Amino acid sequence: MKDWREKIQNAQSLDEIEKIRIELFGKKGYFAKEFERLKSLPKDQKPAVAKELNSTKNTLFHALRQKKEELLTQEIQQKLQSEKIDVSLYSASGYKGALHPVQHTMDKIIEYFTALNYAVETGPLVEEDFYNFEALNLPKHHPARDMQDTFYFQDGTLLRTHTSPVQIRTMLSRKPPIRMISPGAVFRRDFDLTHTPMFHQVEGLVVDEAGKVSFANLKFILEDFLKYMFGDVKIRFRPSFFPFTEPSAEVDISCIFCKGKGCRVCSHTGWLEVLGCGMVDPNVFYAVGYKDVSGYAFGLGVERFAMLLHRIGDLRSLFEGDLRLLEQFR
Ligand code: DAH
Repeated sequence: MKDWREKIQNAQSLDEIEKIRIELFGKKGYFAKEFERLKSLPKDQKPAVAKELNSTKNTLFHALRQKKEELLTQEIQQKLQSEKIDVSLYSASGYKGALHPVQHTMDKIIEYFTALNYAVETGPLVEEDFYNFEALNLPKHHPARDMQDTFYFQDGTLLRTHTSPVQIRTMLSRKPPIRMISPGAVFRRDFDLTHTPMFHQVEGLVVDEAGKVSFANLKFILEDFLKYMFGDVKIRFRPSFFPFTEPSAEVDISCIFCKGKGCRVCSHTGWLEVLGCGMVDPNVFYAVGYKDVSGYAFGLGVERFAMLLHRIGDLRSLFEGDLRLLEQFR
């Protein structure tokens, strides 16, 4: 019994355990033989020896089973160890992409306004004259249409020149109060250092009962937004004109390159223009059939923000797909 126990204890593998099991409990194994021998013993000795034998059998059986489990766990552990993959290791190859700076800037703008519960609305890129101009207080032959060199299709539709038509679409499909932004691509016949035929804007619109939305609200939100985007800058509102807002303003931040001292980027003014805004013109509300409401609106160019944030000199380089530029934003 003691010998068997040691043998089981010293077993190194499941194979060995299996061998011992056969030696002990097999048809021609140790216990088969012992029980066979029992038959030839005198009758009065049989019960005691049988009892002893059964107890030994039981003990060894359990010892064997325990050892088997032990070895099995060991084997699984070894397997886990040897097949382990270190997922934190750097891969030898593989190319890591990154968000395009325009997308990254867009995301940051959207993040600010959605946190304030502005809904994100979208509209078609191929737009009708009514939404892009007419309803925005830009009737046919209005001189302000020249501000936006438009791509027209033969059927009179056009590539939207700004994201403002989404204001109209949203107001026509919902009831006030409205609090929305609309990010997206816009198109103009323009191509130089600071203009590309396709670029991106984010439009904003807030409408509520008359008297509930003021220019002071607009000013507060835009100042907070611009500080979120550009950090500690000075901000000024300059009276301006847009057909769809009255009064209108353009908003400048103190030049982030020269800190307002005056440099080439800010044309030595110390200021950079970053967006347009104003109180929604009554004619716009009239066009969508809204009564007794007030609202503010704003619009900004995403590329301009991206250029300022990342200090990119030539707008066109954002769309050339040159990896040497894009890799810097990884
Ligand atoms: N749509 C104008 C543009 O493309 C930007 C703009 C200015 C939008 C003032 C507005 C606004 O909503 O109030 O130049």
